[in-house]
Amino acid sequence: MKPEKPYKLALIAALGPNNELGLDNQLLWHISEDLRHFKTMTMGSVLLMGRKTFLSLKKPLPGRINIMLSRSDVTLEQGLELAARHIREQDPVLQPTLEQLPKGTLPTVYVIGGEQIYRQTLQMADVLYITHVQAPLPEGGADVFFPEIDPTIWQETARTDHESGATFPYPFSFVTYERRAIGE
Ligand SMILES: NC(=O)c1ccc[n+]([C@@H]2O[C@H](COP(=O)([O-])OP(=O)(O)OC[C@H]3O[C@@H](n4cnc5c(N)ncnc54)[C@H](OP(=O)(O)O)[C@@H]3O)[C@@H](O)[C@H]2O)c1
Repeated sequence: MKPEKPYKLALIAALGPNNELGLDNQLLWHISEDLRHFKTMTMGSVLLMGRKTFLSLKKPLPGRINIMLSRSDVTLEQGLELAARHIREQDPVLQPTLEQLPKGTLPTVYVIGGEQIYRQTLQMADVLYITHVQAPLPEGGADVFFPEIDPTIWQETARTDHESGATFPYPFSFVTYERRAIGE
């Protein structure tokens, strides 16, 4: 039997009104509040991402362990195992986060995209941190989408609404979804 995973798996993403994620390997909008939110949430944690998302970042995100998935290098299964190893071995990058965790709480591993990796990890995720953006799409629309968030499986447990950002004139909301208990 496989040992229990030593982390909670979270998917973190910013979505348009119809789950749009990106176009031409880029994000759809620049929302500084969302970038800050992403940084605060993920700092000192392990990140898992697909090769295309990694390329769109240009360089690894500092202060976090960046695991890039590629079928010719690190498979999803190997990436999850690698994440577990970093946590079990208390990698120095993770130490401030691990030290602050209340006793008995598991650290979080974040899946940061893109579509291919979200689709393969949604069914094993424990929590979703979604920024819902109510804004028009850039010209060209989107070519990648987040999978459906089924309300019979996922329960909204926290929400912060913003009417606009400092330089972003449309509404957006930070929403947490947690997996419903079986039979709920
Ligand atoms: N809005 C958001 O929050 C958000 C977040 C992240 C990304 N995005 C957007 O999403 C887009 C990229 O998404 P994408 O779906 O095109 O690509 P992706 O998921 O980032 O990367 C796809 C690549 O991941 C690798 N891969 C897929 N499944 C794998 C597996 N089981 N094991 C190992 N490697 C695996 C493959 O690499 P190989 O070809 O090397 O095998 C595949 O080509 C961009 O537009 C980006 O801006 C948006």
